[in-house]
Amino acid sequence: VNVAILGFGTVGSGIYEILKTNKEQIAKKCGEEINVKYILDVRDFSSHPDAHLFTNDFNVILNDDSVDLVCEVIGGIEPSLTFSRESLLKGKSVVTSNKELVATNGTALMKCAKENGAVYLFEAAVGGGIPLIRPMYRCLAGNNIKRIMGILNGTTNYILTKMFDEGQSFEDALSDAQAKGYAERNPAADIEGKDTCRKIAILSSLVYGKSINCDLIETEGITNIDSDDVKYAEKAGGAIKLVGYSEVSEKSVYARVSPMLISGGNPLFCAKDVFNAALITGDNVGDVMFYGPGAGKLPTASAVVGDIIDICMNANAFMSWDEGADSDVDLSGSAKCGALVRVALEDAAAVKEKYADALKIEGVKAGECAYLIPSMTVSESKKIKCIKVILTEENYVIC
Ligand code: HSE
Repeated sequence: VNVAILGFGTVGSGIYEILKTNKEQIAKKCGEEINVKYILDVRDFSSHPDAHLFTNDFNVILNDDSVDLVCEVIGGIEPSLTFSRESLLKGKSVVTSNKELVATNGTALMKCAKENGAVYLFEAAVGGGIPLIRPMYRCLAGNNIKRIMGILNGTTNYILTKMFDEGQSFEDALSDAQAKGYAERNPAADIEGKDTCRKIAILSSLVYGKSINCDLIETEGITNIDSDDVKYAEKAGGAIKLVGYSEVSEKSVYARVSPMLISGGNPLFCAKDVFNAALITGDNVGDVMFYGPGAGKLPTASAVVGDIIDICMNANAFMSWDEGADSDVDLSGSAKCGALVRVALEDAAAVKEKYADALKIEGVKAGECAYLIPSMTVSESKKIKCIKVILTEENYVIC
């Protein structure tokens, strides 16, 4: 099987390394050798030991009929979209880690793959190295998946962990995550929640069976989280995580991305540093937790290589969902949640009056306190007169 790697950045170089290092085991599993025939990159790799593999002309790859499979790990929309579509039109299967492309153009690319006898797979697009998409899509196929709660961005989880466990500043933790190769080229997509939004859109689309428009998913990142929030969260026996949340019914999907206070009793609490975790609730299986490294060179490349091997071994490998409509996204705000609400002392009585079962947390900052409110609707949470609201699960349990 001849493979071309499009993009020799963090993930692309990881794929090459794994295919080279584990060549024999992979060949044994596939029944045939996986041979990297080309690496596409616009940069100069003339001093690379395998310089002969590099090209900056995509047409060389496209017009070589011996290339069976293309790994698109360039990222972003263009030229990734054009390269992926043209490869599929020629019957070459495409595997990718490109969540932006899958979230925005996945429906069309999967359709194009099907029409041309090829496959479009994207295990690495959500959860980095965690086997998540295929197990959720296939092994949990006997369930109606009701809810997904996911820590789906390694960079923000790394930052929040450093803020909680080491009292590090947001800026230092972000620089560290960038240096380790976790962050996007423009880390705004990480810290503002856009990356998580794309990932929860992909998972929701797979579960719902129709594409969910990520532009309709209400998205808040972690740039607003400060050291006082950290103290309140600790007093409440939890930690703040950036969560992609989705409730899926037959009729619609309610989804959001927001910082959430996660109780010490919730399995998601244990996902720290660059680790991702997804807690999936099926009607038959109950809660299932997927956990592992959510970003980084070799973990992400491991998932891409898994897709390559799946295509080689399994003639029926495929993923798909149908075209969706904006009405598939529930924008009513009627979903239930709990909340940690920071209020100025003069507004505290009004909150207590409205939510008699709210639990008061004091002693973090002069002139304010916080309430843990067990249950309300998401739209209600936006109407409280307060300093800040951090959502929790409904009926948050203090540990
Ligand atoms: N920037 C992403 C993250 C990379 O931090 O999770 C993996 O998708």
